[in-house]
Amino acid sequence: MMECQEGKRDEIRQHIVVIGAGVVGISTGLNLVQEGFHVTIVARDFPAPFETISVDQINYTSPWAGAHCRFIPPTNETEKREHEMALLTFRHMERLVKDGKQAEAGIRFMKGVEYVERPPQAYLDLTEAKAAELGYKSFRRLDKTELPANVEWGAEYQTFCLNPMMYCAFLLRNFARLGGKIQKKVLQCPQEVFDMPEFRGIAAVVNCSGFGFDDPAVIPNRGQLVIVANDCDVTITRQNKDGSWVVAIPRGYDGGTVVGGTREPGVLDTVPDPLKSKQMLKNLKETHPQILPEGQDFKVLREVVGRRPMREGGPRVEYEVVDRNPKKALVHAYGLGGRGYECSWGVAAAVKDLLDQFAQDVG
Ligand SMILES: Cc1cc2nc3c(=O)[nH]c(=O)nc-3n(C[C@H](O)[C@H](O)[C@H](O)COP(=O)(O)OP(=O)(O)OC[C@H]3O[C@@H](n4cnc5c(N)ncnc54)[C@H](O)[C@@H]3O)c2cc1C
Ligand SMILES: *[C@@H]1O[C@H](CO)[C@@H](O)[C@H](O)[C@H]1NC(C)=O
Ligand SMILES: *[C@@H]1O[C@H](CO)[C@@H](O)[C@H](O)[C@H]1NC(C)=O
Ligand SMILES: *[C@@H]1O[C@H](CO)[C@@H](O)[C@H](O)[C@H]1NC(C)=O
Repeated sequence: MMECQEGKRDEIRQHIVVIGAGVVGISTGLNLVQEGFHVTIVARDFPAPFETISVDQINYTSPWAGAHCRFIPPTNETEKREHEMALLTFRHMERLVKDGKQAEAGIRFMKGVEYVERPPQAYLDLTEAKAAELGYKSFRRLDKTELPANVEWGAEYQTFCLNPMMYCAFLLRNFARLGGKIQKKVLQCPQEVFDMPEFRGIAAVVNCSGFGFDDPAVIPNRGQLVIVANDCDVTITRQNKDGSWVVAIPRGYDGGTVVGGTREPGVLDTVPDPLKSKQMLKNLKETHPQILPEGQDFKVLREVVGRRPMREGGPRVEYEVVDRNPKKALVHAYGLGGRGYECSWGVAAAVKDLLDQFAQDVG
């Protein structure tokens, strides 16, 4: 029995197809090649300089992100699982920086500041001891005197921000360097891959398609952003009573700062609303006046809209057995919503575990 499983495990390592070249698909592909798998990434969109990405790629979410890591104190099993994935990713980023990869990967560690007008219980319960237990680094609750008007709860901690397309290009480069293969193609459905002649005999397909196909639980969550040339040395998140947000995420490496973002589930409008953009800049200036040194103004580079692949009930990270001879695995890793970057390496690790699990189950 053991031998059979070993055999199955080796067989699975021979060839895997990952669908999707967003941060989730490329992280998954890279982690698998590092673990000794042979992998091809098949996708419609691949990373490119952000300046070249236009609205016809609105369904490719990864270029439009901030992207910062903002821990959420978990209140249920779904959030606990996401938090574990975020912690794993945080440690991965620390390792990359320690290995001197910071600049080529587009990573910067900095202070994350959070303000909440009406804090839920999980925030109120977040003492410094509890935060340390959850893995926050250098967490400090802000004193009443440090909070902007109307804010009831504030804290700061050490976190990271990524320049999204620099980070994804870094991952893809390393994937290719380790032997990973790439194919540009639009698919009708994930199972199609099993019938493609070049992939005859593959043991598994990993579905990292963001919101590419037909899961009705996946709802694009519209986020409008203004990208300004001004840099910022912290990342700010403010949650208001009325459900609106004030966000500033410095991209670093001459990428300016992302100011946003709206959260509008199910809204498909691709055109940025100039009034909303103005309001977002005004709100940021009020919450964090330090972003504009005396006499300076915002220099707007682009107003854009992105779609977070939100999924009701949380991300789908699991596998199903496809009834063929021999049996194949379809591993799902999508629906990361607004947390795709901060959970990416955790998802990649989970996919590898699921493939090992599959080998055990059918071996
Ligand atoms: C405004 C905004 C701000 C954000 N800020 C943050 C942040 O600060 N921190 C954070 O962690 N996250 C943030 N996010 C969320 C993050 O961007 C997403 O969670 C993440 O990019 C999702 O990555 P993905 O790989 O799952 O999907 P995607 O990036 O959408 O990639 C999907 C891939 O699948 C491919 N694909 C889809 N359909 C097909 C098909 N039919 N055939 C072939 N290929 C297909 C696509 O071409 C693409 O390669 C933000 C998102 C938005 C919109
Ligand atoms: C994005 O996806 C939606 C929903 O699947 C589709 O209707 C739309 O045509 C896509 N947009 C682009 C620009 O590809
Ligand atoms: C693959 O993922 C997409 C999300 O992009 C989802 O809509 C679809 O249902 C998944 N495919 C299958 C066969 O389950
Ligand atoms: C977990 O908690 C969050 C925040 O309260 C909520 O939005 C989400 O629906 C919950 N998820 C589940 C599966 O209970």
